[in-house]
Amino acid sequence: MLFEQIATGGCQSYLVGCRETCAAAVIDPEASQVDRYLALAARDGLRIRYVIDTHTHADHFSASRQLAQEVHAPVVMHRASTAPMVDMHVDDGDMVVVGRLRLQVLHTPGHTRDSMSLVAEDRVFTGDTLLIGGTGRTDLPTGDSGALYDSLFGKLLKLDPALLVFPAHDYRGRGHSTLAAEIADNPRLQVRERDAFIAMMDSLNLGMPTHITEALRTNLSGGKTVAQMLAEAASLVPFMSMAQLKARVEQGDPDLIVLDVREREAYQAAHIPGAQLLPRGQLELRVNQDLPDPTRRIVTCCELGRISTLAAATLRQMGFQRAVALDGGMQAWREAGYPTRPGAEP
Ligand SMILES: [Fe+2]
Repeated sequence: MLFEQIATGGCQSYLVGCRETCAAAVIDPEASQVDRYLALAARDGLRIRYVIDTHTHADHFSASRQLAQEVHAPVVMHRASTAPMVDMHVDDGDMVVVGRLRLQVLHTPGHTRDSMSLVAEDRVFTGDTLLIGGTGRTDLPTGDSGALYDSLFGKLLKLDPALLVFPAHDYRGRGHSTLAAEIADNPRLQVRERDAFIAMMDSLNLGMPTHITEALRTNLSGGKTVAQMLAEAASLVPFMSMAQLKARVEQGDPDLIVLDVREREAYQAAHIPGAQLLPRGQLELRVNQDLPDPTRRIVTCCELGRISTLAAATLRQMGFQRAVALDGGMQAWREAGYPTRPGAEP
């Protein structure tokens, strides 16, 4: 088995492949690592055949849909998942066949209703059901501490204790563990009586994960995160450096339109000399009137350099083929001590 563990912060994802057939699967891909999965698969001569989420993640952004689209592979989740982008629902006892490699599905609900673990040869991918020295929490949507107890003590811990444990999360840089080590040392697994286990899980009082709203919205729907929208826009536009723009402003480049897409108040407080105001929210409404010549060179700017990227991408889509975005924003421009002007332009 070809095997790669890819850590993103505390999120663990995995590329598993079959050496003989060159088929592979990615387990719990994370949104910022799509190029890495593709590169690792290419390096090892693998074709990604399946993209698998062990459960609906509430705390990070799944790349399943995006990765699956790029490699034309199905998204695989447990049948209890309600996410509409799932192409292949699996159930307890099913196998996902990756070349000669077999991924055995165990339904292990508790952290979420759709949680599953996958056994492959000498290891088990436990998702957030069993973590190293911990378990998944049960207080987020569809969590159930009684179900977690049954999944752990009734299923996972009954497997071969020599199995290596690869979880979906580990925040302390430990790559893996074994079932035997977890049975011996994992503090939560020392509470072996069902009611006591439920009482312990229900009294944890954990804080909410940072991105829970956006993670659940995008992971449950296959929709895009704000970071994805920005990355997609950025991939469609060239940028202009702040130094380049400063030089052009100082030379009085007659071909260049500096388009400030912030709100009027921010523009009037301080803007790049000669900049034209067109707030992002009014771009489509005022574009014909304010930017009559689509052949002009336009550089968009905003406070942080994000909205200006979206604006430049929108302008390109509308036919302004020379629209670029400032690499940076007004905040960085001011911090660099570059020239600004208050009020309205004459
Ligand atoms: Fe999770």
